[in-house]
Amino acid sequence: MTKQIATNVSWHEGEISRQDRYEILRQKGITIWFTGLSGSGKSTIAVAVEKALFAMGKLSYRLDGDNVRLGINKNLGFSEADRKENVRRIGEVAKLFSDAGTISLSSFISPYKNDRDDVRALHEAADIQFVEVFVDCALSVAEERDPKGLYKKARAGEIKNFTGIDDPYEVPINPEIHLRTDVMTLEEEVNIIIDYLVQNEVLQLQYLTRADDQAAVSTATSQ
Ligand code: ADX
Repeated sequence: MTKQIATNVSWHEGEISRQDRYEILRQKGITIWFTGLSGSGKSTIAVAVEKALFAMGKLSYRLDGDNVRLGINKNLGFSEADRKENVRRIGEVAKLFSDAGTISLSSFISPYKNDRDDVRALHEAADIQFVEVFVDCALSVAEERDPKGLYKKARAGEIKNFTGIDDPYEVPINPEIHLRTDVMTLEEEVNIIIDYLVQNEVLQLQYLTRADDQAAVSTATSQ
């Protein structure tokens, strides 16, 4: 875990609770963390899950390695230390999004087990659900897909420290969800994730529905 440097700082509570936010949004925040090789399908699955959730009236937000590295993490490269910091920052950002009530869909190679475990611990300490999704795909298949032509460059020695080629990927030991994108269809993968959310009561309508709201409003206005 990264050490706290600033002293004399403490968490400031507002007057609106997490539960209040979840109720106004009629959903519960949660972080879904996709990990896997470049080209394994993390971003593709996140995009499809976002679409499925949207159709169900649920708000999610994608945090994606490439996108985030163009913005908040533009000062980070691909050394072990930079990847650690990349994952740490996004872990914190995902936690904030989930605390706000969004379903955070985070897609990062996140090759080191310790870094992923730190993000999990961060969520557990804040009592926010964290789901690790191993987007598993044989390296040979990811390399064949090579959507950005990066494996080719890595093999040619034009990119150094490329995950799976000359940089490690530590396979998740006990992920909540294990997808095999070299044998499953995208539809199957999305269904597995949505089913998981339903089974774990993330998508249950435990909060007010719009119909409840309307009934409450008409009762209030008729008095
Ligand atoms: S992580 O290891 O720090 O989690 P992240 O998911 O943010 O990586 O970024 C990976 C993306 O950066 C890849 O999908 C690829 O497009 C690009 N990339 C560029 N150089 C590398 C590299 N050396 N290793 C892995 N990915 C790289």
